[in-house]
Formats: sequence, structure tokens, C-alpha cells
Amino acid sequence: MTEVDLDHHRSGDAVTAELRADVVAGLTAAQKWLPPKWFYDADGSELFEKITQLPEYYPTRSEREVLAAHAGDVAKLTEAHTLVELGSGSSEKTRLLLDALTGHGTLEAFVPLDVSESALAEAAEAISKDYPGLAVRGVVGDFTQHLGLIPGGRPRVVAFLGGTIGNFLPAERAAFLHSVREVLDEGEWLLLGTDLVKDVRILERAYDDAAGVTAEFDKNVLRVLNARLGANFDLDEFEHVAHWDAGNEWIEMRLRARRELTVEIPGADLTVTFAAGEHIRTEISAKFRPSGVEAELAAAGFALEHWWTDSQQRFGVSLAKSVRG
Ligand code: SAH
Ligand code: TRP
Repeated sequence: MTEVDLDHHRSGDAVTAELRADVVAGLTAAQKWLPPKWFYDADGSELFEKITQLPEYYPTRSEREVLAAHAGDVAKLTEAHTLVELGSGSSEKTRLLLDALTGHGTLEAFVPLDVSESALAEAAEAISKDYPGLAVRGVVGDFTQHLGLIPGGRPRVVAFLGGTIGNFLPAERAAFLHSVREVLDEGEWLLLGTDLVKDVRILERAYDDAAGVTAEFDKNVLRVLNARLGANFDLDEFEHVAHWDAGNEWIEMRLRARRELTVEIPGADLTVTFAAGEHIRTEISAKFRPSGVEAELAAAGFALEHWWTDSQQRFGVSLAKSVRG
């Protein structure tokens, strides 16, 4: 197999410094929290792929159904020369877009960007092998920091799939959409996947499966702290909780201390104490309504051109055009 070159915007030292700063900020706060990007070391990326195959985790299947039905429309409407994918992971569903865009004859380059080098390397390798004429230019980077560095000819479509937009807090989400708009020229495109508000039982099961894969994924962030900062979290002392916050319309992932605990984190010069039952918020996954998505896109300078959902209306995909700078 030929190696695919990746652009690196994350050196090991800088990443550890960033993790240390995030851990100090998050675990000394009154309500403890950690940013979700730290789930995704090589093990975390593998666990996420397992999540996408769980019977309870409908978002991947629902979004795939939408892409299978409408990738041809995306190709016709955008005539994209470059497909950029943010938080690309395995890029499995993205193959539907690649098929349609290469079939349409316009696509020249695919630019997947992810913090997870292992997931990115594997995906970039497989895709460059399966799409021989396509320039695959993977970027190891953070989509909140490195959007200015995206290569590729215009017009571009930026795909942000999987409902990952829901993992931002509302203010972060607005800033992120603005930053995407800023790197695009007028007339370029955003293809955005958003999970939709639905029955709370379906939602909570999707984030707390019977086999315990999601619990293991959630706890992987503690493994990352143990490995990178020499922390001594005992994973068995924490319980995974998926809580639907009805006011905010988001699922909140929590790691709850089963009893009073003290944890040492030498790499961050930190000792953290937990009361029994106290939790770390590890991620939110916001669920959307169509009108809200359209309004948030408009506020960032995108006009919603198409809105597609799956047959059960569980997941929405928006195709939006950049309208002003
Ligand atoms: N798009 C895929 C994966 C979704 S999971 C799908 O739809 O199935 C979220 C992905 O975003 C993971 O691959 C993770 O490594 C990546 N990610 C999380 N935070 C990130 C950040 N700040 N910058 C870049 N990638 C990030
Ligand atoms: N972007 C995914 C989502 O919001 C990430 C995810 C799926 C996740 N399952 C999880 C994050 C469980 C933390 C815990 O659906």
C-alpha cells in the first residue's frame, strides 16, 4: 500500500500543552467538564466506529439514508471541485458523496480533516486507493483552529456530518459556523448533518447502549488523561450517564463518580477531588429543529437551499450556500 501524505497541524508537545490547559480549566470548574475532542485517540476512534454500528445508534444509518438518496443532487447543484470534510473520522458515509461527485465529473480533490491521526490515515489511504484519479489531501488538525489551511480548487463543498455540530455549545456553534463561512467564497457550499429532536427514549438509548460500548467510549477520555498526563483515574469508579436536558434540547454525557474520590494528575500539576455522585460533563449532543438550523445558518451568512431528512425524520441534512462575507 502506498502511504498518503497528511498535513500536520498538531505536534505532540503542543497537543499535550493544550490537553493540560483544558484539564486544568475543566476539572477545577465548579461543574467539572472536559472538551469532547479528547475522546479521539486511536482507541477512541475505533470505539466510535463501533458505536456507529450499534442497533441503538440510529444517526449514522439515518444520515446514510439521506446521503444515499441525495448525493446526486449535491453533485448536480454544487458541481464541486473539492470536497472538504471536517471531523471526517472513517469517512465511510462520505463515499456516497465521492461516488456522486466523481460520477458527475467535477471532483478533483478530497480534503478530510480530523484530530485523530489514526482514523484519518486509515480513511485517506483507503479512499485514495478506491478513487484512483482523486487527489486526497488529509489534514490532521482541529476544526476550531485550522480551517484557514484547507487546500483545494473552487468551488468547494464543506461537509460536516454525523451531527458533530451538536457537540458544540450554542455560542461555540455560532462561532464555528461563522469561521466556516469566513474561509469560503460567496457561492461555495456547506453540507451539514444535524440530528433532530425526537422521543427521549430513542435519544437516551442511542447514547447509552445495552452492550456498553458508549460507556466505554465515554470513559476513554479518562484513559487519555491517564496515558498523556500520568493521571490515576480508575475507570471502574465512574459510571456513564446519558441525560436528556429538555430545556436545552441536548443529550449530556456524564461520567459520575460512584463514591468520594481523589485523583492525581501529575502532568497537569493537579489533584482533583470528587464528591460521591459528582460528575464530569464530557460532551453534549444537541438535537435540532429545522427552523432552528435554517436560522443559525442564516445568522452565519449561509442560505439554506435544500433540507433533506430520512424516512423516519430522525436526521436532517442541509445544503447551504455562502451568501455574504
Ligand atoms: N464524521 C464521522 C465521525 C463523527 S465523530 C461520522 O459522521 O461518522 C466526530 C469526529 O470528529 C471524530 O472523528 C473526531 O476525531 C473528530 N473531531 C472531534 N473534535 C474535533 C476537532 N476539534 N477538530 C477536528 N476533528 C475533531
Ligand atoms: N457526534 C456524535 C454524536 O453527537 C458523537 C457521539 C456519539 C458521542 N456517541 C457518543 C459522544 C457518546 C460521547 C459519547 O452523536
